[in-house]
Amino acid sequence: MSLDQSRRTFEKWGSEDPLYAVLTCDSMRGNRWDVAEFFATGEREIAEVFDQLREFRIDVTPGNALDFGCGVGRLSQALAARFERVTGVDIAESMVAKARELNQHGDRVDYVTNTVDNLRLLGDRRFDFIYSSIALQHVPPPANLRYVEEFLRILRPGGVAVFQVPNGRVIGDGAVSQFLYRLRRQYLRRAWKLIRGKQPYEMHYIPRVVIEQTIAKGGATLVGATPFGNRKTGDNYRYFAVRATPR
Ligand SMILES: C[S@@+](CC[C@H](N)C(=O)[O-])C[C@H]1O[C@@H](n2cnc3c(N)ncnc32)[C@H](O)[C@@H]1O
Repeated sequence: MSLDQSRRTFEKWGSEDPLYAVLTCDSMRGNRWDVAEFFATGEREIAEVFDQLREFRIDVTPGNALDFGCGVGRLSQALAARFERVTGVDIAESMVAKARELNQHGDRVDYVTNTVDNLRLLGDRRFDFIYSSIALQHVPPPANLRYVEEFLRILRPGGVAVFQVPNGRVIGDGAVSQFLYRLRRQYLRRAWKLIRGKQPYEMHYIPRVVIEQTIAKGGATLVGATPFGNRKTGDNYRYFAVRATPR
């Protein structure tokens, strides 16, 4: 499935109502988010993640952090309080432009656009910490899993990746299963959202078992997974993976 449809959707919403495009609270539609309140939600989220890291006894080196699917930098800005350098990467140039405008940390935070299904522009084994929240769920397969593989590749040995993605049943390799998944997730749900005046974001998932296999194959250990969101967001996890250090 192509990334282009979701890129175009986020480009449009990122240029029209960027904060609401990230946190779709109905009362904030029409550029009504208070910027400070919006960024405070990012600080609370990152504080919660660091509490969970402590519970899992995972140490994080406060060097280079990556925020994948950074949007307008809600979480990148919060990460800047804990890391020397933060890179935010997003598929939509409109989001990246807004993130640059709202950056409070000078050149310790940089934002880049990436429209392909790999993270080669970020180099190799560079990051001490990778974070991604409410982003992979909008990426169609197989690119969503490809990004998880890339997280593991660009982590330094000993580095930590924390990412959220909904869970679901394994999609068969056959053409019919693939077609039905695509029909439902890329077209029918999208159309239903458009009819109701909601943003027509695609919603995808990666089966937990596939995440577990991918982390192991990438030379990392899945230390834990915590439930994410509420009943509306369904079966959904935040995964905590640590890349092995060489002996
Ligand atoms: C709901 S927003 C969340 C933004 C940010 N993670 C946050 O929580 O504040 C989802 C973001 O993911 C980005 N995104 C979607 N597909 C992407 C992809 N293939 N690569 C990078 N970013 C992507 C969108 O452009 C959008 O900015």
